[in-house]
Amino acid sequence: MKADGRQKLIELLRKTIYELTGNYYPDERMKILEYKLERLLKNLNISMEDPEGVISYFLETLEKRKLLIDLMTVPETRFFREKEQLDVLFDEALKGKLSLNMASVGCSTGQEPYTLAMMMAKRGISGKVFGMDINEEVLKKAREGVYKASELKDIPEEYREYVVAEKDTLKIKEDIKNRVEFRQINLVDPATFKPFACSFDVVLCRNVLIYFDKTSKRVALTNLSGILKKEGLLVISSTEILSRDYYDLFEPVKFERFFFYKKKENKNDKGLNC
Ligand SMILES: C[S@@+](CC[C@H](N)C(=O)[O-])C[C@H]1O[C@@H](n2cnc3c(N)ncnc32)[C@H](O)[C@@H]1O
Repeated sequence: MKADGRQKLIELLRKTIYELTGNYYPDERMKILEYKLERLLKNLNISMEDPEGVISYFLETLEKRKLLIDLMTVPETRFFREKEQLDVLFDEALKGKLSLNMASVGCSTGQEPYTLAMMMAKRGISGKVFGMDINEEVLKKAREGVYKASELKDIPEEYREYVVAEKDTLKIKEDIKNRVEFRQINLVDPATFKPFACSFDVVLCRNVLIYFDKTSKRVALTNLSGILKKEGLLVISSTEILSRDYYDLFEPVKFERFFFYKKKENKNDKGLNC
């Protein structure tokens, strides 16, 4: 394929993924995407020669759109990721809570929402955890609750009562699975969040917004604010920061060395207030 045709395909792909998901791919990350796209098109027997044709193919049906979303997904996650942050969340920020409704947005294959459910069970806290993601493929895996046996190493000893470790697999026990539900949402599509307005005490959205630009991040954060209850907490990764640009939506609150973000009432938008 000619260099200018390839460049055109890359630009169209970048624009389409951004419009569909809010994820902005800078040049260095485009390389990986280009490689994945090339393999997918080969499998589908589609020529790369016609950039517009390739993009229209993916936009034709919901099923085909899913292929594109699966292509761009960075599914990396693990049980008890940043455990120290989660311990401070439960034992300091949420101290004394007997019931909680939590969401893990951008939950990938489910390790994060199951971690939250185990932490709630351990502390005798009732309530539900919703795992949410744009990608149906990762959600399918999450609903199964079956992982590789090697992931047992990520689960601290005191939480291993909630899983069954077999020779090759690690299964989440039914009482933990029953606490978790999975839903497909899109961080940049407010309609997908409507059923959850003012529903959650805590929303985790860790290692997701790092792939968004300023504009799509604002849309996503507005949607996350909308699903939090009054004064509910947003948790991002401790390696991320929420800049002052978003202090109209959230106010930082510090517990030990961690910042969490408390939902602010929004004077201009009645829809965000609970
Ligand atoms: C790196 S994983 C983070 C998993 C987990 N939160 C953690 O920290 O371990 C990022 C996830 O965000 C999801 N994601 C990306 N764009 C999204 C969007 N617009 N709406 C919802 N989920 C999205 C991806 O599908 C992927 O599963």
